[in-house]
Amino acid sequence: MAVRQYTIWERFLAPIARLFIDEEELHQYAKSVDWERESQRFARGDVITPEYYSSQNFHGIEGGYLNSAAAVSYDAITQYVTPPNENWVRQAVIDAIQVIQPRRIIDLGCGTGSTTLMLKETFPEAEVVGLDLSPYMLVRASHKAENMGLDISWRHGNAEQTGFPENSFDLVTATLLFHETPPAISQIILHESFRLLVPGGQALILDGNQKNLRNLEWLNDLFEEPYIRDYGGGSVDAWMGAAKFGAVHTEDVWWVHQLTSGVKPISSEDGKIQTQVLNNSPIFRGDTVDDNGSDGVTVPSPAYTQA
Ligand SMILES: C[S@@+](CC[C@H](N)C(=O)[O-])C[C@H]1O[C@@H](n2cnc3c(N)ncnc32)[C@H](O)[C@@H]1O
Repeated sequence: MAVRQYTIWERFLAPIARLFIDEEELHQYAKSVDWERESQRFARGDVITPEYYSSQNFHGIEGGYLNSAAAVSYDAITQYVTPPNENWVRQAVIDAIQVIQPRRIIDLGCGTGSTTLMLKETFPEAEVVGLDLSPYMLVRASHKAENMGLDISWRHGNAEQTGFPENSFDLVTATLLFHETPPAISQIILHESFRLLVPGGQALILDGNQKNLRNLEWLNDLFEEPYIRDYGGGSVDAWMGAAKFGAVHTEDVWWVHQLTSGVKPISSEDGKIQTQVLNNSPIFRGDTVDDNGSDGVTVPSPAYTQA
């Protein structure tokens, strides 16, 4: 049987990070929640957990994200692995949004919801959905939203096949997701993002900077990230193009990260393809795309109107 190698993170960095993390506070929070009961509020019977997800440890946590330890420790660790400042890095996503007034936004692989909350704060009128494969991460995300008084729909689901109708979102985001999925899965998620978007809608993918990861092989061994080497060897830019996105471009974000934007093209009557993001019609309040799983969720977002 293969002997599990301890990562540099576990051996050296975690003990240092612990000096800065208020472990007592995390412990108190962890104890205050009935995780099994609360996670059942979100868990959906029809969600199949993929093998690439359940078979791996992430960040040295046995069982990956399917437990409360991951949900409790995630934010405390993430602040130290998103230099120079986690909020600045996430703010790059908000700053890159070109859709003027998105009515429906979905954050894929939302985890504890740090980006999802920023999206809702920026667009309080929008219906915002945070989708994740881990009901435990959704419990943590929902507590954060409650504390901030933000109304967000948290949805247990697989970003490869969300179950939402096509053309139902104006904006799709995924932050820090693709380094945790095999490249073939990331590409399926991009196809699903394309399907979910209305024509003229925008997708934004924030993650590690692939060109730098290629040059910093040693960094890949730092954390227990089973797919980060393959992610670094790929190109989100190219994957988005293959998924038929237009106006695709990738920018560095504080050198360590990258942000890729793409637009679902609009085909006009004369057969020309346009790839600019269009201004939105006023928010349509009559329908909702997420009722957390009941049948009949088939109301697409109304079409864009030209500004
Ligand atoms: C590194 S965390 C990122 C969380 C959050 N987006 C952020 O920016 O902090 C990756 C998250 O993606 C989720 N995830 C991984 N594969 C997924 C999939 N196929 N569908 C939905 N969520 C997935 C994990 O459960 C985890 O919460």
